[in-house]
Order: sequence, then structure tokens, then C-alpha cells
Amino acid sequence: MTSPLVELRNISIAFGGIKAVDHVTIDLHPGEVVGLLGHNGAGKSTLIKCLSGAYQADAGEVFIDGEKVEIKNPRDARALNIETIYQTLALADNLDAASNLFLGRELITSMGFVDDAVMEAETRKIMGRLNPNFRKFKEPVKALSGGQRQSVAIARAVYFNARILIMDEPTAALGPQETQMVAELIQELKAQGLGIFLIEHDIHNVMKLCDRASVMKNGQLVGTVNVNDVTDEDILGMIILGKMPDRAR
Ligand SMILES: Nc1ncnc2c1ncn2[C@@H]1O[C@H](COP(=O)(O)OP(=O)(O)OP(=O)(O)O)[C@@H](O)[C@H]1O
Ligand SMILES: [Mg+2]
Repeated sequence: MTSPLVELRNISIAFGGIKAVDHVTIDLHPGEVVGLLGHNGAGKSTLIKCLSGAYQADAGEVFIDGEKVEIKNPRDARALNIETIYQTLALADNLDAASNLFLGRELITSMGFVDDAVMEAETRKIMGRLNPNFRKFKEPVKALSGGQRQSVAIARAVYFNARILIMDEPTAALGPQETQMVAELIQELKAQGLGIFLIEHDIHNVMKLCDRASVMKNGQLVGTVNVNDVTDEDILGMIILGKMPDRAR
């Protein structure tokens, strides 16, 4: 038995009196996509923010490769090769793709200047692999479509050697074609051995992209299922009724 890439064990976090996440345990293996599902306000984003370093859990433990880690801030998470693509996609609108890709981690010339030429060349290289149709290297990212913005955010994670990728509703604002592009990117990253937590409302995307699905309701974990063992209706039942389907019990 190899230890999971990530294990979130008994995570709890409350805001005021509200238990946003209540003793939740989930795990993730290399090359695996685990979907996180549940109603609005179920606690999905809050849970993964305890892994990305945006929040600190009130209780519970995080293990990476079987070792307990302390993730106090986003920098700690990055040092553990955890990259996050947030629900409200945080790109700097007035900067181009390369500047966004290297934001906060700029390449510097031997003279101490930001090395725009090398950053652009690196960006072209990685975008050529991830999204070969991408051409808008010279424009601020506010001129990009939702799907193109997603591909820049994904390129950023891949460039910096993410092993663990957290994607919070990556296709929420996208049209069908762009959703398909992001789906293909997810499949490629999975094939490269990344572990991906995917927060996703669209049950068809979950069935297509995820190996397992963990469902939350009112801050608690309803359960985790292999998507091959259940139907769409089973998962919808978990979300709505908050209990495991009979067949998976
Ligand atoms: N910073 C915060 N301060 C106070 N309450 C918060 C904060 N962040 C989240 N909450 C509350 O915690 C609960 C869980 O919210 P969370 O954003 O994790 O839900 P979610 O499952 O991601 O929902 P959605 O599908 O709408 O994104 C909600 O009741 C929310 O109002
Ligand atoms: Mg959310």
C-alpha cells in the first residue's frame, strides 16, 4: 500500500457559529481526479482552502505523501507543490499571459531585471503544449476568453511543477467548447500523474472526469464513491438527500 498523495483528516473549520466544514476526511492519489460535490454553501471551497493555505483549519490534519504537514499560508502550499485555481479566477487583468504565469515568481536576468523575453518564450513553450491554438501572447489577459484564461492559470500550475492541483469550478463560466478544452487539459495532467481535486457542479463533467467523488452537505462529508460504481442519480441522491446510495453502502 502506498500512502495517498494527500490526506485531509478530520478537518473542521467554523465561521462564527457556523460549522462550514465539520470533521471531513478525504484523500487523493497520484494520477487521480477526485470530485468534490455538494450544494452551494456545503463547504467545498472552505475545505480545499485548508489545503491551499488560504484558511487554517480549527482542527484536523493534512498529510502529504504520508507525512503530516503544516500549511499556514499559500506559500507553504506552493512549497509542497500544491497549486490552486480558484473559483473566481485570480489573474491580473492588465498583464499579459507571461506576466500572469510568472506573477510573484518572475524570472530575473543576471543584471537583476525582470526577463520578459525568457518569460514570454517559456510561456509560448508551455501554452504550445497545453493550448496550441492560443495566440494572444501580447495582450492583457482581460482580452482573453474564459477558456483561454483557464489555460493560462493551468499553465502556471504546470510550469511550477504542481503535483497537487486544486480546481474550484474551473468550467463554471465557460461555454461548451472551452469546457471541452479544460476537460482535455485535466485529462492530460492526470495522465502526467498529478492528483487533482475538482470542485464541480455539473454531474456529467464529474462522471466524465473524476475517478472518485466526495459529496458534502452542510459542512459534513456524505461519503466518497468510485464514479464507475454509481449512476448520475446515485450522486444526485447523495447531494440532495445527504446519504449514500444503497448499492455503494
Ligand atoms: N470567510 C468566510 N466568513 C464567513 N463565512 C464563510 C466564509 N467562507 C465561507 N463561509 C460560509 O461557510 C459555508 C461554506 O461555504 P463554501 O464557500 O465553502 O461553500 P461551497 O460548497 O464552496 O459553495 P459554492 O458551491 O456556492 O461555491 C457557507 O455557509 C459560507 O457562507
Ligand atoms: Mg465554492
